[in-house]
Amino acid sequence: MFRACCRLRYYLRLRCTTCNIIILLVLLSGSQVWIWCRRQQVNPETTDIDEFPMDHVKHGRERMAEHIAGLSAYSYQMRPVNCGQVFKGDKEEIKRSSKIGTNSKYYRKYFLQEFKSCKVIRESSKYIFNVSEEEKQFPIAFSILLYKDFFQVERLLRAIYRPSNIYCLHIDAKSSKSLHDNIRRLAACFDNVFIASKLEDVIYSGFSRLQADLNCMSDLLKTNISWKYFINLPGQTYPLRTNLELVKILKIYNGSNDIEGITGARMLTGRFKYVYKIADVKGKKTLENTYKKKLPPPHNISIVKGSAYGVFSRNFVKFVISDQRVQDFVKWLEDINSPDEYIWATLHHTKLNQHLNTPGGYKGDPDKKPWLATYAIWKGLAPCSGIWVRSICVFGVGDIPHLIQKKQLFVNKFYFNLQPVALNCMEEWYFHRVRSPLKLDLEYYRKLPFVNS
Ligand SMILES: *[C@@H]1O[C@H](CO)[C@@H](O)[C@H](O)[C@H]1NC(C)=O
Ligand SMILES: *[C@@H]1O[C@H](CO)[C@@H](O)[C@H](O)[C@H]1NC(C)=O
Ligand SMILES: *[C@@H]1O[C@H](CO)[C@@H](O)[C@H](O)[C@H]1NC(C)=O
Ligand SMILES: *[C@@H]1O[C@H](CO)[C@@H](O)[C@H](O)[C@H]1NC(C)=O
Repeated sequence: MFRACCRLRYYLRLRCTTCNIIILLVLLSGSQVWIWCRRQQVNPETTDIDEFPMDHVKHGRERMAEHIAGLSAYSYQMRPVNCGQVFKGDKEEIKRSSKIGTNSKYYRKYFLQEFKSCKVIRESSKYIFNVSEEEKQFPIAFSILLYKDFFQVERLLRAIYRPSNIYCLHIDAKSSKSLHDNIRRLAACFDNVFIASKLEDVIYSGFSRLQADLNCMSDLLKTNISWKYFINLPGQTYPLRTNLELVKILKIYNGSNDIEGITGARMLTGRFKYVYKIADVKGKKTLENTYKKKLPPPHNISIVKGSAYGVFSRNFVKFVISDQRVQDFVKWLEDINSPDEYIWATLHHTKLNQHLNTPGGYKGDPDKKPWLATYAIWKGLAPCSGIWVRSICVFGVGDIPHLIQKKQLFVNKFYFNLQPVALNCMEEWYFHRVRSPLKLDLEYYRKLPFVNS
């Protein structure tokens, strides 16, 4: 090549050496671009845990600094984020910290190191292993539905984990092998965390999403833990109440469920008036409307809409799993759109379905009662300092000051890689609350209209 260049130089009117230097420079910069491209291609899902050495496991602030990228890392190390100022709504601190991004490479590295062995998890003291007598006497069952982001799910579990509770994790059957492996490795570290006995291939808006919850419910009923309440959560949620606070609130609930109810125009009746079927659209399974009219629900059931998430008493869960009318209704739900947003609300609201005698059900007007299970912001109803995804706010740092004032039990949702300081400050707020419990206004919960007194 160099010789060819020397021949060519007549045409280029250059010296032989100049020509060769140019070639060398082109080759060098080319290889840099190639190396850079290779770095960009590292697939986060396929990172192998064993790739990372076990030394220098870091925690807390130090780790937070480590996974923050580039220039902002520099300014972060100069002056770390003061979550205390964020909680107070300090505009300058919020503005500065919402610009801090993640260096996902560091993130993966340090988090995965901690999951090399269960010993590290137990000894890192980031999970809470001692609980009060009151919590021991009131076990709660959780199911977490997840399909990605091991790190975020791990942070959720770390917050809500207590040895007195029980946790069922449902991983989407089609999620990556490394996600399945990592979750299994994590669950194996705890006696009271398990993977659902049957994993569904979850299709958006399809019945499989509901089946996943039903699988966890029946698995949880089979355990020997006499849990009192069941709470289902998506992987991107975060708690607003500590476990002790949840116990106190659920004791006040006294067997009532906390389920959202929507009737009238906001029910999206098209979703259950027609038969839906699963179609293959460019290799992706999608739900499609056939526009074929569906028969009315069995047992004279009237449909109510609500959220897929809620707080369910043990007797309600038993009813869902064993009552024959509910089994017939579940069968009817198999070919509608988003059955998970209709089942709980329909069963719970006994004003419309009195004959079901649902345990923990609510006799009053579905739309007029508050719903405390989850706090979320729908587009158009309030500002969002993060981003909108499918009309739901993914919270940013600027939302924290009002989130921590909310009465709800959980908040949905965060992305661990969108304004990562948001989740970091939530974590700081939550663990501080666990260590130094504040006086909670229980009177508010006692006065809720759906509470069984
Ligand atoms: C858990 O243990 C720590 C340290 O031993 C103690 O300070 C804390 O009060 C305990 N928490 C509970 C809920 O018992
Ligand atoms: C529940 O069963 C497991 C074994 O399946 C056992 O180790 C544990 O002690 C039991 N717990 C209770 C409260 O009976
Ligand atoms: C069905 O329910 C409606 C009220 O929702 C009631 O008026 C009607 O009598 C019920 N029919 C049967 C056959 O139970
Ligand atoms: C809890 O509910 C039961 C009925 O299920 C009722 O008898 C009891 O008084 C309630 N407790 C409180 C504190 O309201």
